[in-house]
Amino acid sequence: MTTLVLANEKGGVGKSAIACQLGYYFHDILNKRVLVIDLDHQGNTTRSLTKSGLATVAPVQSHQFLTEPITSVASGAFVLVPSSRELLKLQEQKEWHNRFATNLRECLRAVGASFDMAIIDTNPNPDIRVIAALVVADGVLAPIQLNQEAVHGIGSLRRQVVKIQGTLNPDLRFLGILPNLVEATPFQRENLTQLVTACADLLLTLRDGRPAAFARRTAWPEAQALGIPIWKSKKTSSRDVWSEIRPVFETVAASLEVS
Ligand SMILES: Nc1ncnc2c1ncn2[C@@H]1O[C@H](COP(=O)(O)OP(=O)(O)OP(=O)(O)O)[C@@H](O)[C@H]1O
Ligand SMILES: [Mg+2]
Repeated sequence: MTTLVLANEKGGVGKSAIACQLGYYFHDILNKRVLVIDLDHQGNTTRSLTKSGLATVAPVQSHQFLTEPITSVASGAFVLVPSSRELLKLQEQKEWHNRFATNLRECLRAVGASFDMAIIDTNPNPDIRVIAALVVADGVLAPIQLNQEAVHGIGSLRRQVVKIQGTLNPDLRFLGILPNLVEATPFQRENLTQLVTACADLLLTLRDGRPAAFARRTAWPEAQALGIPIWKSKKTSSRDVWSEIRPVFETVAASLEVS
């Protein structure tokens, strides 16, 4: 099983929407067995995937993956380990932090034979949940929004990833920054140009060499609210959105060697 984490301490950058749509993509298009773990107490991924009816909701909650030696989830080719409010209590239990990361690793190892792909959605604000996810992951993808604050904020995630690569998880791969909610304004275009110039090596890059990015499109919140894969939406505009998403998801799958 290959594990991908969606992380960025900025809120509202698309971590959950991309986690859900990637989950559908790996399951529906690549025919992979997918486990989605929602480590965000806000539960946006849990709400959307539950609404979809496509994922089996596991009887265990995601905080238990950190606090207990869970050895099985639910049978099914697309399983959601849902969010809970208990996740909020983990940060204060400092003496257990190492154990939380170890438990998560052991839980994933135990259920790993039943899935090809695990996708972990994380909360904004870097805490033990995000650190534990990075410690156990094979890859991390960082959606951002193109404003100066968010672009500067990516530095701290990058530093955290480098630190974890140097200590607890040398195999962790930084797949890249993925600009999302990009608008066709001169300001945003300028920010994207600056980003490409300043940190081209940190951007997720498509096979044709272009930096990956998603435009702001209403198809995203609509699909998330309905709990559907964007490519299953009946709206004709969704077809254009899907043609924008597909090469990016293909790049993510290829980077993780899951295809
Ligand atoms: N490309 C896009 N175009 C338009 N809306 C988008 C796009 N990507 C995400 N959204 C919407 O933006 C909102 C915020 O996205 P999302 O909840 O995925 O962000 P997040 O990073 O998970 O936020 P948080 O850090 O609070 O968990 C959601 O309503 C989502 O559907
Ligand atoms: Mg979220």
